[in-house]
Amino acid sequence: MIVIGIESSCDETSVSLVTDKKVILSNVIYSQIDMHKEFGGVVPEIAARAHLEHISSVFDKAMLEAGISKAEIDAVAATCGPGLIGGVVVGASFGKGLAISLRKPFIPVNHLMAHALTPRLTNELDYPYLLMLASGGHCFISEILSPSDTNTLGGTIDDSAGECFDKVAKMLSIEYPGGPKIEKLAKSGDPMSFQLPMPLCSQKNCDFSFSGLKTSIKYLIQKSKDDITAEHKADLCASFQRTVSEIFINRLRNAIKIMNPKIKSLAFAGGVSANQYINSRMKEFAHSNGLNFFNSPIRLCTDNGAMVAWCGIEQLPCESYIGCDLHPTWKLK
Ligand code: KG4
Ligand code: ZN
Repeated sequence: MIVIGIESSCDETSVSLVTDKKVILSNVIYSQIDMHKEFGGVVPEIAARAHLEHISSVFDKAMLEAGISKAEIDAVAATCGPGLIGGVVVGASFGKGLAISLRKPFIPVNHLMAHALTPRLTNELDYPYLLMLASGGHCFISEILSPSDTNTLGGTIDDSAGECFDKVAKMLSIEYPGGPKIEKLAKSGDPMSFQLPMPLCSQKNCDFSFSGLKTSIKYLIQKSKDDITAEHKADLCASFQRTVSEIFINRLRNAIKIMNPKIKSLAFAGGVSANQYINSRMKEFAHSNGLNFFNSPIRLCTDNGAMVAWCGIEQLPCESYIGCDLHPTWKLK
C-alpha cells in the first residue's frame, strides 16, 4: 500500500509517499523559514499564501522522486489540524481534491498524532509506549496505546518547549527558528554556568510551564545590558538547554510512576526532539529506568509529509481513526 501525506500546518509545505512496509519513497519539504526570518516568527498570512503557491510543485516533485504514477496511490492523508488555519485549509483541500479525483480514501490526520507515531516509522516500536512530545506549538506526555487511542498524562499550562527555544533565541538576537541555533551555540558553552528555574517541578504531576524560565532569561540578558559576550551567550544557551532537558526528565519521572504497567518504551517526538543533547539526556533517563528509548532521524522530527503519510497508513484500518484526543481544544470528531 502507498499513502501520500500532505503537511501544511505551519511553515513547511511537504508532500511524501510512504509504503506500509515503512519505505519512504519521497519526502519533499519546502521550508518557508527565509520568508518569516525578518519577522522573528511565522506570519500566518504569509505562510498560507506560500503554501498555496508551492503545494502543486511540491506535489509534482514528490511524485517524480517516488517514481510512481497517481494510479498507484492507495489513500491520501493530510494534516487537518491543529495548526495555522490558512495553511491547514490549503493542504487539506488539496488532499481532498486529490482523493476525490483518484476515488481513493481521504484520511484527515491530527498533526500531533502524526508526530506521536513517527518513531514507529523508523523503529520497531510496539504499542503501548510513553510519548514525550515537544514541538513549536505543543508540549505534553501521553500514553500511546494504539493508532487511535491515547491517554495524556500532562501538558503545558502556558508555552511549548519549542516556543521557549524560539523566544530565548530572539532575546539573544539569534535568527528564527532558534532551536537548532541554540543547540549549536550551546556546544561551546558551560551547561552549569547558570542555575535557571524549573517551573512546576516540585509538583507531583506531569504538567509543564515555560513562561517563568523565559522571563528569568530575559532578566539575565537585561542585567548584562549591551555587553553580552559570545562566551556568555554560549553559556546561557547551554544552561537553558540543560534546564529544558531536566524539566522533561523531572516530569517524566512522575509519568513513569503512573503510566500503564505494560509500557516498556519511551519515545521522543516533535521539532525539539531534533536536539541531540536533549535526546542523549532522555535516552540516559529511559535506560536507567529500564525503558527502551526511541526517536526519529532529525529530518523526521520537524514537520514533514512522511509523518502524515505514516499516520494515515496506521489509521486507515482503524474504525475510529478520527478524534484522537491529543489536543484539549481541538478534535476531529
Ligand atoms: O514540530 P515542529 O517542526 O513544528 C510544530 O509542530 O510546532 O517544531 C518546531 C519547533 C520550533 O520551535 C523549533 O525551534 C524547534 O522545534 N526545534 C528545536 C530544534 N530543531 C527544531 N528545538 C531545539 N533544538 C533543535 N535542534
Ligand atoms: Zn509539528
